[in-house]
Amino acid sequence: MNANAYIAALQWHVDVGATEALEDTPVDATAMPEIPRHEPADASQGRVTGGAQANQSASAAGLGAGSQVTGTSDAAKAALALAREVDSVESLREAIAGFDGIPLKKTATNMVFSDGNPEAKIMLIGEAPGADEDRQGKPFAGANGQLLDKILGSIGLSRTAEDLEKAVYITNILNWRPPGGRSLNPAEIEVSLPFIEKHIALVKPKVLIFCGGGTAKALLNSSEGMSKLRGKMKDYKTLTDGLLDTPQAIPAIATYTPEQLLLNPGQKRLVWQDMLRLQQFLLEN
Ligand code: URA
Repeated sequence: MNANAYIAALQWHVDVGATEALEDTPVDATAMPEIPRHEPADASQGRVTGGAQANQSASAAGLGAGSQVTGTSDAAKAALALAREVDSVESLREAIAGFDGIPLKKTATNMVFSDGNPEAKIMLIGEAPGADEDRQGKPFAGANGQLLDKILGSIGLSRTAEDLEKAVYITNILNWRPPGGRSLNPAEIEVSLPFIEKHIALVKPKVLIFCGGGTAKALLNSSEGMSKLRGKMKDYKTLTDGLLDTPQAIPAIATYTPEQLLLNPGQKRLVWQDMLRLQQFLLEN
């Protein structure tokens, strides 16, 4: 190739949005190992059951819409009581929808529960919905979502994949948008933990992706920043006492959020490294 052809190739990459060099040497993506394909499980054996029970759970706990919960610890106890009772992803969704212990519910437009197949073996957890998510009722929507889809796609994963080994089920710690896109406060995390931990227990993923420092700190019970929490596989262990008869330990990887990458493209190479680490884990397990 002559110099003009190289310049044209570089310009093409810039035009399609590839603004960062992720590795010091080129990676031939066509030569990267494929994650083995697994046939989708028989849908009749799905873990999701009907949602009617959530209403019963909510009313049994006295927490249906309109009931009053006072103080953070009351709300956290009420969340725990509800989360203990639900036995399917659908009934968890209904329980959260009817729970009034999180004031953000009043200011949000839509509840943002999840996207993708709850039978997936990979579960990605963000912190909380933003404006696009609030409007669409779907986690990681808008520009964030498009970038997330590209990141997952770089290692052959997708929230819409039929192959459960490649499918990513996506949710957030909090299901309601904090106004102005602020971070969650400790009270909101405390009340949300029983729900997100039960969500994890119901989905039973083989691996978790914690998207963003807030999520990684909350679910790894750590005060360390992302620069310490990312870079190697971690073990997520159930934190909420009394939630599950058998607390869980699930491998987890922490990485930056798409919003952070849009603000700070230099972090793309770190996320790329995280995706390669995740791909390696998936190949080995
Ligand atoms: N960031 C998150 O953590 N979650 C979303 O749903 C969107 C952006």
